[in-house]
Amino acid sequence: MGFPNGYETGTFLALDMGGTNLRVCEVILPEEKGEFDIIQSKYRMPEELKTGTADELWGYIADCLQQFIEYHHEGEELDQLPLGFTFSYPASQDYIDHGVLQRWTKGFDIDGVEGKDVVPPFEEALKERGVPIRLTALINDTTGTLIASAYTDTEVKIGCIFGTGCNAAYMENCGSIPKLAHMNLPPDTLMAINCEWGAFDNEHVILPRTPYDVVIDNESPRPGQQAFEKMIAGLYLGELFRLVLVDLHDNKEIHIFEGQDIGTLRKPYSLDASFLSAVEDDPFENLSETHDLLASKLSLRATKPELELCRRLAELIGTRAARLSACGVAAICKKKNYETAHVGADGSVFNKYPHFKARGAQALREIFDWDPKKGSKSARDPVEIVAAEDGSGVGAALIAALTIKRVQEGQLAGIKNAGAMLKGTKAEKQPEEQV
Ligand code: GLC
Repeated sequence: MGFPNGYETGTFLALDMGGTNLRVCEVILPEEKGEFDIIQSKYRMPEELKTGTADELWGYIADCLQQFIEYHHEGEELDQLPLGFTFSYPASQDYIDHGVLQRWTKGFDIDGVEGKDVVPPFEEALKERGVPIRLTALINDTTGTLIASAYTDTEVKIGCIFGTGCNAAYMENCGSIPKLAHMNLPPDTLMAINCEWGAFDNEHVILPRTPYDVVIDNESPRPGQQAFEKMIAGLYLGELFRLVLVDLHDNKEIHIFEGQDIGTLRKPYSLDASFLSAVEDDPFENLSETHDLLASKLSLRATKPELELCRRLAELIGTRAARLSACGVAAICKKKNYETAHVGADGSVFNKYPHFKARGAQALREIFDWDPKKGSKSARDPVEIVAAEDGSGVGAALIAALTIKRVQEGQLAGIKNAGAMLKGTKAEKQPEEQV
């Protein structure tokens, strides 16, 4: 609830359960405004865990946290450390359901977790191992990105992730949140809203879909869900590209990779977004890098027209993703009547995909009809998507800090178990020391 003021202090742990890595950070917020120090360790997220059991998942995560603490605090007598856990799936962080996972996204498929609160089994796994950690806040990556970015740049009003998944968060007045009406919170109190816009248009009434979008959806672990995300997010870009090439090859009127064995290309999800990035990044007129990539990854010998087709296809897929992303940002700006804003954005697609930023900025200019003169190099666009601060590290720590501060002030709305939250932590021993 609310933005940080830049003066939050304390030591916090942050945990991010991403698709490929598990990241654990210790974040120190010093007295200086908007500053932070961070140490981090990354642990591989074994692929089997994503479709394994809930016990294996929580056990593995608790083991990593234990290793982190043993490594960085060997032999120390520790207070319970407050933890901000970035759990980037549609889980309720609201007053009604707390940490209930609505549904897995991004290729996760672990039985017995959907529809349940993820916090108790996670805390149980920590307790079993005697790890000195108090879970203080469960957050979404977009919320972390929003808060971390706003900590260092007060113009930030929206946080976005364009990565394996895609989503955004912004600040809403409690008075405009119908499902919280019964709480009678002050109407102008701010609360972060995780939009879960990946699920936009699940009914397929707004956005035109290609046959390839339909295949992606049908073959996914959760057909009918995350319709918008499946057109944008990094997880699906390579697959879209692959599906088009296979379809063109199988169409006997189109002679592409004719007479060649496309066995590798037929394997679902054999290409990821970095493949498309490389195709779009090929600096050579004769597309020789694309040629070599097709040879090494797919054992295909491509002619010049085939290479040009691959390049154009990557451009189309990448451009659609960037322009749809901009629609989401524009929708929030319109809803909130933001005439100017910074949008803190993170994620592999935003950071690494060629031209993604420029294409998104161009789409915003078209949507808002900004005067092209103002869009010239020297002038800045009124709404700018900028690189975010580290949301799942600094953002998670800040949200933990803000939560502890609220508990200390007796503002318990939305706090699940206020008594237990501070127990054994520094904040309990030194309540006068404001976080
Ligand atoms: C998926 C998740 C969402 C997350 C996004 C970016 O859309 O459902 O919670 O914010 O990916 O990681």
